[in-house]
Amino acid sequence: MMLRISGLQEMREWSRSNRVEGRKVGLVPTMGYLHEGHLRLIDRGRGAADALAVSVFVNPIQFGPSEDFLTYPRDIERDIELIEHRGGDCVFVPEAAAMYRSEPVVTVAPGSIAAHLCGPRRPGHFEGVLTVVAKLFNVVEPDMAVFGRKDVQQARAITRMVEDLDFAVQILVAPTVREPDGLAMSSRNSYLSPEERTAAASIPASLEAAHHQFVSGVTDVGALVATTREILARERLIEVDYTEAVDPDTMAPASVADPETIVALAARVGKARLIDNVVLGAGVQADEILE
Ligand code: PAJ
Repeated sequence: MMLRISGLQEMREWSRSNRVEGRKVGLVPTMGYLHEGHLRLIDRGRGAADALAVSVFVNPIQFGPSEDFLTYPRDIERDIELIEHRGGDCVFVPEAAAMYRSEPVVTVAPGSIAAHLCGPRRPGHFEGVLTVVAKLFNVVEPDMAVFGRKDVQQARAITRMVEDLDFAVQILVAPTVREPDGLAMSSRNSYLSPEERTAAASIPASLEAAHHQFVSGVTDVGALVATTREILARERLIEVDYTEAVDPDTMAPASVADPETIVALAARVGKARLIDNVVLGAGVQADEILE
């Protein structure tokens, strides 16, 4: 049976005893309701670490007051089975009352990384993410941790936090895992009706169209972004929040497109707010598309 830990001190002891034995400790942080995208992060972690912990914690402080914290999908028993089956060595499931013994006063600020894309649309979100990830790093003390490129701004904020604050954690960023029609896997896809689910395929299609346009020679970011918007505008069930071309390091708007430029978007489809992105020179097809 895989170890299930909820105490913070117990978690730290598990990790320390592994390191004493000479094992490299890995961490895959999640909010649960696991899908193949999460499970690929576990595969990646298992390849890079000798003892792998997966955390499942729906972090209240990264949700805005009108967001889906209370309705966020949860199924911890199923998650534990999946993690065990995929070869995780330990699952960390802390209680919110243990993680937040009082409301945090000192938090981690994302700075300019949160100035664009989801930052202004979700005030406090990245601060909540960085704060919980810093806490998880301090509790688990992993040698390495794995994150997904699906949440590109989050992954960048975390790598930057680790650089700027000298965390001794190696960060790995794994490719976006997609359904056969290209839709990026997300726990929030469970909110979609069948009709909305069909419409949502336009999201990766719009990004792929920008990639094709770029490869055919268009470097004008306005034209590339307009292409994604036109495709999304054809779907009455999709309401675009933003589409932007950004620099992969700063997450600030790009002035001209190059192969590393990222086109990122957020859109509302029914009750779900979905995000996705593509590296312009690589395209959606370069991600991991499931059969
Ligand atoms: P969650 O949305 O559960 O995602 C956990 C990890 O899985 C993140 O690193 C995310 O980028 C990755 N992921 C999700 N969908 C993916 C996909 N389709 N392909 C590849 N990777 C994917 O992100 C969070 O939780 C939280 O913000 C967290 C980092 C755990 C902090 O609370």
